[in-house]
This record gives sequence, structure tokens and C-alpha cells, in this order.
Amino acid sequence: MDYKNNILETIGNTPLVKINKLAADIPALVLAKYETFNPGNSVKDRMAVKMIEDAEKEGKIKPGGTIIEGTSGNTGMGLALAAIVKGYKMVCVIADKQSKEKIDILRAVGSEVVVCPTDVEPDDPRSYYSTSKRLAEETPNSWYVNQYDNPSNAKAHYESTGPEIWKQTEGKVTHFVVGVGTGGTISGVGKYLKEQNPDVKVWGIDTYGSVFKKYHETGIFDEKEIYPYVTEGIGEDILPKNVDFSIIDGFTKVTDKDAAVYTQKLAKEEGMFLGNSAGAAMKGLLQLKKHFTKDDVVVVLFHDHGSRYVGKMFNDDWMKAQGFLD
Ligand SMILES: Cc1ncc(COP(=O)(O)O)c(C=O)c1O
Repeated sequence: MDYKNNILETIGNTPLVKINKLAADIPALVLAKYETFNPGNSVKDRMAVKMIEDAEKEGKIKPGGTIIEGTSGNTGMGLALAAIVKGYKMVCVIADKQSKEKIDILRAVGSEVVVCPTDVEPDDPRSYYSTSKRLAEETPNSWYVNQYDNPSNAKAHYESTGPEIWKQTEGKVTHFVVGVGTGGTISGVGKYLKEQNPDVKVWGIDTYGSVFKKYHETGIFDEKEIYPYVTEGIGEDILPKNVDFSIIDGFTKVTDKDAAVYTQKLAKEEGMFLGNSAGAAMKGLLQLKKHFTKDDVVVVLFHDHGSRYVGKMFNDDWMKAQGFLD
């Protein structure tokens, strides 16, 4: 018989899928690493399980304990699935700009969800960073995951996502393009690919309102770059330890409108029903067109599933209210 012992064993080994119409103007072969095939419908399942298993090995989490994390939804989903299988309680702290679907989904998989205001400074006691830390201090037998600075995050991608891409492209990958939030995906995959072939170029997708691009180009953490934005999952107002700027060749910024419009285009023109950061990554890849030649193999990673955005980027009333649709 061919079966898995639990749902966590289905994580990884996601397909690479060619992007056709939307990449028609790009001379290279453009392939999507399609992460929605993971059981929590996002790439984050990989690092969620790795972070918990490393914490178990290090004795940071004990049987019956409570896992606490500040999350934009997907990491929470991966952690919640692992918590169910492994017998932990799960508390997710989430910012109120995240879609309602993400909050409902976390509750559906047994998580307690604490919603915090988005438009406050990271060190404000109401922010989701501060609230998660405080809850972890107050809750006995709890462990604060901290995906931003937890090295197991990038390690998960170094050990699984990176090797899969290398193997699936038979070592022919020349460029890796991906949205950057905690930095775990770009840093882990990028490090692995560059170790196999130092000529592989690694591009990060950033948003307007985030500090990454300017910091990468100038070394300056410019607070003037920070303002609220709509795009979900990528960009930051902090510098997470998981962003290894040394392995990133460059960033391109994508507007909220373009990210939303390309989220719809991926669904309508490629049949790829994906999240908002996939739209940003697709548009960013098109912005980078001049860097690709006909012999290149460009891999873009798509983080999560469209079902989490049906009230937003897939809702034309919402799109019009934002000024994203004419
Ligand atoms: C939808 C989505 N896209 C992109 C990212 C960024 O990935 P990473 O945190 O590995 O940089 C995240 C992270 O939470 C996400 O949820």
C-alpha cells in the first residue's frame, strides 16, 4: 500500500509548471514552483514543521505546550496543522490588514487568533510583533516561534525547496525570483542554488512601503520608505534576520495595483488560482525582463492559494474601491 502516516508527510515535492501566456514576451523558459500543493496550501508548511521539529530537538517546546506566532496567515496554517498532528495548542497573532479568509481558516484548524492593528510601529505594545512576544511571556509552557529571526525558517528551504528546484531543472536554473517577507524562502533557496552554481542570480520582489530594496542598494534603513500598503505577504518595516542580503542580487518593487491585477491575470490567463504575492512576483519578473536571455531557465516561486483572497483581489467591487480596476 502507498500511503502517508500523517498529513505532514505530504509536504514538499511540489511541481514546476511552465508559465505560458503571461511570459510570452520573456525569451527564457519561465517555470513556477507551485507551492499551493502543500497541505496548508502554501510554501510555509515546509518551514513551520522544520521550526517545530528543531524546537523539539532543542527542548524549547514540551508535550502539551502552546505555540505562539505572529503570522500573516500562512505560517500559522502550517504551524496549526503540525500542532494538531503533534498535540500542541496554537495561538496566532495576526495584523488586521490580512484577509478575513486567512483569519477564518486559522480558526477552522483549531487556532486561537488574536487580531492586532496594522498601522502602529513595530515596537508599539499593540503591534503584532509586541503582542506575540508578550503572550509568549505570559503563557506557561509556551514557545514563541519568531519566524523572522528563527534560523530554521531559511534552513527548511535550504534543505527542501532549493534541492527540489535544482533537481527538477536538472541543474539548469539560471534565475530565482521570489517575494520577500521574513526572507526564509529567498535566503534558503538562494543559498542552496548558489552553492550548486555561483552564477545563479537571485531576485527579490518587494513592495512600495517596505525597506528591503533601499537597504539592499544603500545599506540604509530608511524609515521614510515605510508606509501602509495593500499587498499581502511581502515587504517589511523591519530587517528580519532571515533575509540574507548577501545572496540577493537585486530587488524590484511592484505596486499594490499591479500585484492585484496580476493576481487576477494568473488565474484568468494561466488557470493559476494563487495569492497576492504570486501576482507581485509575476509582475516583478516581467519588470526584470531585460535580465533574461533565451537560454535562461527562470524559476519563480508562488507562495499561496487564491482561496485566501476571494474577498479582496478576486472581488471586483473591492478592486474598484481600491482604484485597481478601471
Ligand atoms: C503569501 C506570502 N507570500 C510571500 C511570503 C514571503 O515569504 P518569506 O517569508 O519566506 O520571505 C509570505 C510570508 O509570510 C506569504 O505568506
